[in-house]
Amino acid sequence: MVSFWKKNNEIDENNELELDLEHIPKHVAIIMDGNGRWAQQRHLPRIAGHKEGMNTVKKVTKIASDLGVKVLTLYAFSTENWKRPETEVSYLMGLPIKFFDTFVPELIENNVRVEVIGYIDQLPTATRAAVENAMEQTKDNTGMILNFALNYGGRAEITTVVQEIASKVQEGTLQVAEITTDLLSSSMMTAKLDQYQDPDVVIRTSGEIRISNFLLWQVAYSEFVFLETHWPDMNEIIFKQALVEYQQRNRRFGGLKK
Ligand code: FPP
Repeated sequence: MVSFWKKNNEIDENNELELDLEHIPKHVAIIMDGNGRWAQQRHLPRIAGHKEGMNTVKKVTKIASDLGVKVLTLYAFSTENWKRPETEVSYLMGLPIKFFDTFVPELIENNVRVEVIGYIDQLPTATRAAVENAMEQTKDNTGMILNFALNYGGRAEITTVVQEIASKVQEGTLQVAEITTDLLSSSMMTAKLDQYQDPDVVIRTSGEIRISNFLLWQVAYSEFVFLETHWPDMNEIIFKQALVEYQQRNRRFGGLKK
């Protein structure tokens, strides 16, 4: 078993004490995996897992906001998820509507601002409207940003940026020498997150050890924490343990240890 792997049975309530509240990661990004397996284990339809997953989103949003996380990015639907059966896609498209219908007052109470990255123009009208409403209703909040990746894919994002930059070069408004890493960063969908564009830590639940097209540009120096827990089973202790694991890493950004 690899060392960065946290098994459920290694999660010990006492370890929570190790969490250093002065060094909470500013941007936490999560690949919320395992809804289907959670449901399957209970002989329930897959959508029951997504419904419970939505409740977990509410819990984790509150926990992260209380800890002082600045940005919580959640991978809710990828550009590849359209390949799932129509009934599942349709249920997933309804979730943001359900979520914001019931949760916006609490988001406002907690000073949380909603943002979205992804191709939202391709979402069903009602889904898009729910997301845009939530962004509008929370736009003046100054606390944590709850950033949903919805119809998001890292390769698609980079491709769009390359197309935009190539068009500018073609029309003569941008010189090739002006194409820098800073220009690319500020052209990504995450540019709206200002100084918190790049995740400090990416957490993936449910045992898979891969990135699945999530924030490919932005994770260059992120730490990765992989958990066996299925997303609907994520709770405060496991979330804090993932942050403890992050705090034990030695981030050097290509330099030497200070
Ligand atoms: C991956 O699990 C999960 C998804 C593709 C959907 C994630 C969505 C939620 C957690 C709810 C989102 C809530 C809001 C408010 C938008 P999976 O279905 O691939 O699980 P499996 O690998 O076990 O089949």
